[in-house]
Amino acid sequence: MEQHIQETRNRAVLVGLDAFSLSREENATEASMEELSDLLETAGGETVGMVMQSKDSPDPRTFIGEGKVAEVKQLVEAMGADMVIFDNALSPSQQRALSEDIGVSVLDRSALILDIFAQRARTREGRLQVELAQLKYRAVRLVGMRNSLSRLGGGIGTRGPGEKKLETDRRLIHQRIGQLKEELADVKRHREVTRQQREKNFALSAAIVGYTNAGKSTLLNRLTGAGILAEDKLFATLDPTTRSYTLEDGQQILLTDTVGFIRKLPHHLIEAFKSTLEEARYSDIVLHVVDCSNPQMDMQMHVVKETLEELEIVDKTIVTVFNKVDRFRELEAGQNSGVMQIPRDFSSDYQVRISARTGEGPEELQKVLQAIIRSRRILLEKVFPYSQAGRIQTIRKYGQLLEEEYQEDGIAVKAYVPAELFGKLYSD
Ligand code: GTP
Repeated sequence: MEQHIQETRNRAVLVGLDAFSLSREENATEASMEELSDLLETAGGETVGMVMQSKDSPDPRTFIGEGKVAEVKQLVEAMGADMVIFDNALSPSQQRALSEDIGVSVLDRSALILDIFAQRARTREGRLQVELAQLKYRAVRLVGMRNSLSRLGGGIGTRGPGEKKLETDRRLIHQRIGQLKEELADVKRHREVTRQQREKNFALSAAIVGYTNAGKSTLLNRLTGAGILAEDKLFATLDPTTRSYTLEDGQQILLTDTVGFIRKLPHHLIEAFKSTLEEARYSDIVLHVVDCSNPQMDMQMHVVKETLEELEIVDKTIVTVFNKVDRFRELEAGQNSGVMQIPRDFSSDYQVRISARTGEGPEELQKVLQAIIRSRRILLEKVFPYSQAGRIQTIRKYGQLLEEEYQEDGIAVKAYVPAELFGKLYSD
């Protein structure tokens, strides 16, 4: 008998609270609700209704207050919804109370993002991190989830990496958390070795960061032909991918794509992805990709900058890459008053405007990268004995050879080389 494996698409009512006592980041807005709806679509669900509530402060038990809960329940029944998703963070007890009152599964933004991560993590490390974050989230919410689990039979909020059914037993969850932590420590050790090997190469590295859907993967593909999934969905890339990029003058730079940032990225998720984002911490340059055609551009740039600070990724050379200028121009043409501002970022060291899709502008980015590399190099003038002729190859590979002259006593070289290499070449 043919088995029916197609999961039904979850139909959700979205709820957001705008409360006076909550901070700007914690509150729901029209834009954050739209984004929540995009997240739901990325997770494979469908928005069938939206409810906004304004209050002085959240209700301790039901978050939005009893009257509003009744309204949500009515809408859920009228629309045949099977879940409710809150834009704000709910406490475990609020989640439980709401689920009991409304009669369907109740999730919050964190759980939805975790679900997307669970479906999309590809590398071993990514999967371990997601599973760990999911189990931590779940460990404190077990009672409410168990009810909705049996009612739901799979679907958003219940999926784990590798299609494994998530544990529902507290003791087993804690055992598994311990196991995952050990496995992650192992992966981390391995990665440190790889990074040390890479550092020996003297190549500069740049991390591509940015709000989700800004075009990071498309840019990396455009520059290096890396063949990474680029989709008009949030978080298409979850695991870092590093590719070597050769600039026009033959110099190499290592580019790493990282997970997209998003507003209200749950704190335990930032924790979980810290080690993945360490690629950015150890890089020399940060390429901040910005979708300049997005009306929420300023907010998105702000979120990225804050997240970088939180991850202690500071003191880097920052290049703001305003992407999607093709779309920006289309939008501008549609606005007859011509009021759109040319995007600028005064807080970064360099800024360029490109379209990763049409291929406009990467030369400008190349020039900026070349200038950064040059600014970090030291002029080396030395005569190498012929027995050390191999050094010239090393200089060619990692530096910029300006002059070489074959003299009686050896090869006279003038070159720009990375500081680490300079010390080595000069001392021996
Ligand atoms: P996450 O993986 O979610 O973090 O996304 P990302 O930043 O890697 O974005 P991605 O490269 O997947 O691109 C997102 C969408 O924007 C895709 O549909 C791309 O085709 C589109 N896109 C990327 N660059 C451009 C551009 O220069 N112009 C236009 N019009 N679309 C672009």
